[in-house]
Amino acid sequence: MSLKFAVCMALAVPAFAAPWPKGPSHGHGKAHGHSGAIKRIHLDPRPFWLIEQMEDSPLKKKLESCTEMEMKPSAWSISHRGGGTLQFPEETYESIMAGSRMGAGIQECDVVFTKDRSLVCRHAMCDLHTTTNVVTIPALNAKCTTPFTPANGTHPATANCCTSDFSLAELRTLCSKMDGANENATTPEEYLDGTPKFRTDLYAKTCSPILTLREYIDIVDDLGLKFTPELKTPEVPMPFPPGSDYTQEKYAQQMIDEFKAARIHPSRVYVQSFLYADVLYWLKAEPAFARQAVLLDESADFGPFEDSVANLTRYAQDGVKIIAPPLPYLVTSNATGDIVPSAYAIRAKQLGMEIITWSLERSGWLADGSKGGYYYATIGNVTRNEGDVFRLLHALAQEVGVLGVFSDWSSTVTYYANCFGLVF
Ligand SMILES: *[C@@H]1O[C@H](CO)[C@@H](O)[C@H](O)[C@H]1NC(C)=O
Ligand SMILES: *[C@@H]1O[C@H](CO)[C@@H](O)[C@H](O)[C@H]1NC(C)=O
Ligand SMILES: *[C@@H]1O[C@H](CO)[C@@H](O)[C@H](O)[C@H]1NC(C)=O
Ligand SMILES: *[C@@H]1O[C@H](CO)[C@@H](O)[C@H](O)[C@H]1NC(C)=O
Ligand SMILES: *[C@@H]1O[C@H](CO)[C@@H](O)[C@H](O)[C@H]1NC(C)=O
Repeated sequence: MSLKFAVCMALAVPAFAAPWPKGPSHGHGKAHGHSGAIKRIHLDPRPFWLIEQMEDSPLKKKLESCTEMEMKPSAWSISHRGGGTLQFPEETYESIMAGSRMGAGIQECDVVFTKDRSLVCRHAMCDLHTTTNVVTIPALNAKCTTPFTPANGTHPATANCCTSDFSLAELRTLCSKMDGANENATTPEEYLDGTPKFRTDLYAKTCSPILTLREYIDIVDDLGLKFTPELKTPEVPMPFPPGSDYTQEKYAQQMIDEFKAARIHPSRVYVQSFLYADVLYWLKAEPAFARQAVLLDESADFGPFEDSVANLTRYAQDGVKIIAPPLPYLVTSNATGDIVPSAYAIRAKQLGMEIITWSLERSGWLADGSKGGYYYATIGNVTRNEGDVFRLLHALAQEVGVLGVFSDWSSTVTYYANCFGLVF
């Protein structure tokens, strides 16, 4: 723990009365300066700029009518990896604060385990080589599943560093950075230099540490917001280590137990997983948390879309209440160029399921001929303008009726939510 954190801890004065009594902290304590709920939401210029970019339409007029509104936080605005991810290193205190100031009402932590089975926030078990400076620290690089290997003219630079390669104490020495890597790097330092051009390194040089799940819980609890922890699929065989008692179910239970230890009421927690077995486990073992468990679904990336639609029936029958596919699964465009609900969205609604979707503001430019890439794939032929992000949000809100939208930049979703009365 750095001196900076020690000072911040000393200054922290709890001001917000949590609706649930707090449990004991696991020793790391509240490591940051902010305390209590954010009372005033600040949106940055981006949503206003996006509206200016829009072609004239009734939607544009309506959005323009909200420019002077006082903005409120909304659970419809779900932070993706903190909610400041477009500009701040993901899964950090700084990203969480940026997203929360921009009105995110639900905060995400992607949960992975360390070699000594502590739970920490990282988007994937094996992304340390792209989200931290690990490859530049020789003693730690040497412990990576695949240490850094330079590019040599015929082969790109490679590395694969996993949280399961390190103890929590080792991980705590790393600095978070913007996600990305330079595949042409011939040195570890060059390898770090891979931030996509539409993002920025402006806030990435202050060595923000990896957060534990418990620190994230304490920060978000203190802000008075809701939680959406995602149990990330291990990238090592389970049990870990082989022959041990640390099974997938134990890992799924451990994540719940951290919320219980912090005395967080289940109604504030939306647990998520891509692994259907995890959700089935929670339905059986933790019904209070399973009531709003989120099944993430990217199955149509690997199989026929019709099969993904058909499989919704079984999920609903098994008791899954919230399904969370990526944005393109939910919409399509019709002959007059409007964005309309897909067969997937229609079926999920018929089955009485709620829908959460991901992730807005990860696509960079829309008006550069890319048509928005993956996240706009099913509406690419009607995507030409940076402001189309609001046309997509409008269809998700009004036509599909989603429960919430994950975003790398919470402002955009918060603006829409406030303008259209989706504040809860
Ligand atoms: C380049 O690196 C790859 C693997 O990283 C290796 O297999 C190959 O032999 C190297 N080529 C040269 C010319 O060093
Ligand atoms: C790596 O080098 C190749 C060939 O010079 C180039 O096309 C590519 O854009 C470079 N990649 C990065 C990430 O700089
Ligand atoms: C649908 O469910 C079946 C049965 O579990 C599974 O084998 C198949 O991979 C699933 N397909 C998709 C696209 O989800
Ligand atoms: C496309 O969808 C819009 C919005 O639902 C609707 O008003 C329009 O009539 C549809 N166009 C066609 C050709 O179905
Ligand atoms: C866009 O493509 C879809 C099929 O992917 C088609 O149904 C729709 O009519 C197209 N819309 C326009 C405006 O070209």
